[in-house]
Amino acid sequence: MDKKVTVIGAGNVGATAAQRLAEKELCDVVLIDIVEGVPQGKALDLTEAAPIEKHDAHIKGFNSYEASAGSDIVIITAGIPRKPGMSRDDLIGTNAGIVKNVTKQVAAFSPDAVIIIVSNPLDAMCHVAFEASGFPKSRVIGMAGVLDSARFRAFIAMELNVSVENTHAFVLGGHGDTMVPLPRYSTVAGIPITELLSKDRIDALVKRTASGGAEIVSLLKTGSAYYAPASAAVEMAEAILKDKKKILPCAAYLEGEYGINGLFIGVPVKLGAKGVEEIIQIKLTGEEQAALKKSADSVEELKAVLKKLGA
Ligand code: NAI
Ligand code: 2OP
Repeated sequence: MDKKVTVIGAGNVGATAAQRLAEKELCDVVLIDIVEGVPQGKALDLTEAAPIEKHDAHIKGFNSYEASAGSDIVIITAGIPRKPGMSRDDLIGTNAGIVKNVTKQVAAFSPDAVIIIVSNPLDAMCHVAFEASGFPKSRVIGMAGVLDSARFRAFIAMELNVSVENTHAFVLGGHGDTMVPLPRYSTVAGIPITELLSKDRIDALVKRTASGGAEIVSLLKTGSAYYAPASAAVEMAEAILKDKKKILPCAAYLEGEYGINGLFIGVPVKLGAKGVEEIIQIKLTGEEQAALKKSADSVEELKAVLKKLGA
C-alpha cells in the first residue's frame, strides 16, 4: 500500500482498528505496544487472515518506534480503559504519562503525521499530545464525536425501525457525561428527528447516548467498548488518507470558535489530507450553546488536573 498508518496500543481498540484498516485496504499498518509479543502476535494473526479476507495490506508488530517512521497517520490508543464504577476522568493520572511518552516518540519518527487520539479522558489527552508533539493544531485530532454520533444514530434507527444508513446525528462537546447530542441537527432521510419523535423519546435517546460508553462497560465488566470506537477512528483515518473533505464531529483545538478558546472539544470539522482543514461553525440555540459551555468547563477542569500532574 502507498499509505502507512501506525496504531499505538495493540489492545482491544488498537488491534480492531488495525484489522479494519487492513481489511479496507486503506494502508499498511504498524502496530506498536509496550508488551512484548502482543503486537507481533496480533499482526501475524491478522496477516494470516489476509488470504481469506482478500487484502494485500501489510501488518507488522513492534515494541519500538523505528518501523513507524514516515507514517501518514498515527492512531494513539495506548493506556488503560475504565472498569465498572470508573469514569473516563479516573484514567487521567495513568494515561497522561503514557500519552505524553508515546507522542514524543511518534513525533520524532513521523514529524509530518496526523495524530488521532483515542486514549481517555479524550479531550484532556488531546492536550497532552498537542503539547508533547509540538504539531500544529490541524494535525492533532481526538476521536469521540464520531463514536458518540454513531451511538445516537444506532439508537434512532432502533427506535424508528429504519436503516442506520438513513440516519444522521451530531454530538458535540467533550467526551464525557456533559456531551451535547443535538436532536435539531439529527435526521432520518433528511427529516429532523424532532418531527418524528416525541420530546420524551428524544430525551431518552439523548440520555442513552451520553451514557453509551458506561452501558458497554457495565456489560463487559473487564474493559470498555472497542468495535464501534475502532470503526470511528478508522472513519476519520479514511477521510484523511483519501483527502475526502468529510465533515465529522471530532475533538479539535478551538481558538475562539463557539466562544471557546485554547481548548480541545468536539465540534464539526472538515477532515482532509492536512488533518483538520476547517472548523465548521453551526448555529446553536441559547440552550445548546449553554450545554456546550458546560461541557467546555468540564474539559477546562481536566486541563487544570493535567497542570497539577505536570503533564
Ligand atoms: P486495552 O487495555 O485493550 O489496550 C490498551 C493497550 O495499550 C494495551 O495493549 C497496553 O499494553 C497498551 N499500552 C499501555 N501503555 C503503553 C505504552 N506506554 N506504549 C504502548 N502501548 C501501551 O484498552 P482499549 O480498550 O484498547 O482502550 C484503549 C484506550 O482508549 C483507553 O484509554 C480507553 O478508555 C480509550 N477509549 C477511548 C474511546 C473514545 O471514544 N475516545 C473509545 C474506546 C476506548
Ligand atoms: C466509550 O465511550 C470508553 O470512551 C469510551 O466507550
